[in-house]
This record gives sequence, structure tokens and C-alpha cells, in this order.
Amino acid sequence: MAPRLLIAARVVEAVREADDVRSLRFVPVHRPRFPSFPGGAHTILQLADGTRRSYSLCGDPHDTSTYQIAVLREPDGRGASRRLHDEVQVGDHLYLSYPQDAFGLDPEARRHILVAGGIGITPLLSMVCDLPPQSTAELHYCVRSRSRAAFLERLAALPVDVHLHVADEGRRLDVAALLGVTAPGTSVYCCGPQRLISAVRASTAGRPPGTVHIESFTGLSSERARQGEPFEVDLTLTQRRLGVPADQTLLDVLREVGVPVDASCEGGICRTCVVDIVEGEAIHRDTCLSEQERQGALTACVSRGRGLLRLLL
Ligand code: FES
Repeated sequence: MAPRLLIAARVVEAVREADDVRSLRFVPVHRPRFPSFPGGAHTILQLADGTRRSYSLCGDPHDTSTYQIAVLREPDGRGASRRLHDEVQVGDHLYLSYPQDAFGLDPEARRHILVAGGIGITPLLSMVCDLPPQSTAELHYCVRSRSRAAFLERLAALPVDVHLHVADEGRRLDVAALLGVTAPGTSVYCCGPQRLISAVRASTAGRPPGTVHIESFTGLSSERARQGEPFEVDLTLTQRRLGVPADQTLLDVLREVGVPVDASCEGGICRTCVVDIVEGEAIHRDTCLSEQERQGALTACVSRGRGLLRLLL
């Protein structure tokens, strides 16, 4: 699952889409097109100094001559969003990973209800361009104010019912009313802040497995990731046993001993650092793996083990 292959890309367009939201469009440098991607996929962008961050691909999946991402400025973040807003310009070269497609449309669903909050609109934008045949969709986009709503023109041209919910105009989405009763064959998707995700989870608690799809942009903080019980890992391929202290992550320890594991968000939201489990009990603290995936893997940046974990490393 790690993005070992990177594609050289050049910025050809930079647009202010809304307050604190800047989109960047790229063309590939050494090839005519980027790899194809399903709606909802993300790429891992690598800056010149090697810093990596995940961004949803928000362009049309049917046009791979360019990739587009949108970046929310995060004043309290680790700095990548500020650089992508203030320093990266048209003509600059960066690297993008092959698409990672964790958050996609259910091909069996006949009706799709998509709920976005803030910058969470980005994966849903590409998803609504990629609807399976014979299915219909409605998109609910929640923002604090109209000036923070990105891509409104593009949304208006989409072949789906788009509903804009602007909090400071008194038009908040009633999640329970929207999702309390839905027709059979409906799948629900949500990407946005934790409060919106919690409301969607609460309103869809009784739904059949596999019909609710969540993507979070809010990861565990660096401090919280380094709090927990100590545990040990056996690296079964290299036959080493390592201890992970209470105040370090598994990723920290692997880096210290030179075991190569890719990482991007380091908050448990992007899947870049996923490691396969051979045996043992993991304490999962990510927001990106499904329950099924958690049976055989964990995110090294935030998740921990109980006792001894044997890993495919
Ligand atoms: S680096 Fe993103 S989930 Fe671990």
C-alpha cells in the first residue's frame, strides 16, 4: 500500500477557490498522461525537501492529462499547507505518487448520498464524476460561510442534486433527518471534520455493513500518537525484535533502526504507513482502515500493539 513510485509533475495552474483553499493543477513531466484513478482516490505529494502529504484528487477521473488537488491552509499544521499556499507557484516541479484508492464508490449501490464538510468536498468532487451507470446521487456540502465554499461553479454543473448548507446563514444540515431513513440500495459517504463524521456515524449506526463510507481529514495529534503502553514487535522478514516505548510510535522506532516505511500524514488518516500483521493484537488508532483491513494490518504512525506483535517487515 505504500507509494514507492513517484511521478514527476509540474504545476500548471494555481487558483484561490475559497477562503484558505488553493487548488493546484499538475501535468506529468515525462509522460503524456497520469495513471487513471477512481473517484475518491488520493495522491501523496512530495515537496522538494522530501516532505510528504496526502491530498485527494479532485479533478475529473476521466481526464488524466492533469491531476488537481485542493489544499486547506492550516495555520497550526506542520507547514506543508502553508508552503503549498505561499511558496509553490506555476512552473514548479513536485512529485506525486500513483493514486491510492481507499475511498471509492460502491458499485452495487443504486443511490449515493454524499456528505462533505469544508475541504472534505475534494474526494467527493471526483466521485460524483465517476458514478456507476444506472445510479443516482445527491451531494450535501456543509460550510461555515459561503466564502469558504470551494468549487461552487463546478458543483452547479454536475449531474447530481447538490445542496449547499451554510451555517452562518442558518442553514445547517440535519444529518439525522437526511440519513435516518434511506431507500434500500443506498450507500452513504462522508468526508469532513470530526463533528460531521460523528453525526453521520450516529445516524447510520444500524445500516447494513459496507453501505457507509467515511474518510477523515483529522488525524491523531503528534502528542497523542506518542502516548500509550510499551509493546514489542518481531520483524519476521529481517528477524529482529524491537521494543516500542510508551512515548514513541512504531514508526519512530522503525525509522531509528533504518527499516524503510513510507509515511505521510503521521496521524492515521492516509494509509501510507500500513504494515501487515502476521500475528498478535493491535490497538488501532487510525481513521483510515476498515474493520476488515484491521484484521491483518496496522498503521505504524499511530497504532500500537498489545504485548508482542509479529509484523511482515
Ligand atoms: S502516515 Fe498516514 S496513516 Fe500513517
